[in-house]
Amino acid sequence: MKNIDIVTNIVVCDYKELNEEQKKLVDAAKESCLRAYAPYSQFNVGAAALLDNGVTVTGSNQENAAYPSGICAERTTLFYAGAQYPDNAVTKLAIAAYKGNAYTKTPTAPCGACRQVILETEHRYNTPIEIILYGEEKTYIITSIESLLPLCFGKTDLE
Ligand code: THU
Repeated sequence: MKNIDIVTNIVVCDYKELNEEQKKLVDAAKESCLRAYAPYSQFNVGAAALLDNGVTVTGSNQENAAYPSGICAERTTLFYAGAQYPDNAVTKLAIAAYKGNAYTKTPTAPCGACRQVILETEHRYNTPIEIILYGEEKTYIITSIESLLPLCFGKTDLE
């Protein structure tokens, strides 16, 4: 018997420390929060994906009176990217959330279902996705979803 440790590396920084490309993507995610349809949770999430052709695709959470029929910002964004630009890899994904009258102080991390979809997107294009989780007081940068989804189930398990 032995133990294995799985290490998750997260860069913790301030918005001001991001490079221009990262700042633009975070700004797009923040703006996208304002287009969320979240009358039930009042928790407005925005995401912005940068594609390898330079296009930025944004999305937000879209809720439904039948709660499970709604969808998160990350999946709205990645499914739109896949539907509109099937040949382009997603290289970066920024996520922000707005609650009450302000963006959240701490970063909002993707839910389990969204992590699985981000993983599929990485595997689909064989390209790691840099994930930027924005918070007013601190921002996290993660180099691949595999850090947030250890022991993941992916397409190679079906081969
Ligand atoms: N939500 C997202 O859009 N992304 C996340 O990463 C977490 C949760 C949404 C789903 C729902 O509309 C609301 O936030 C509250 O859970």
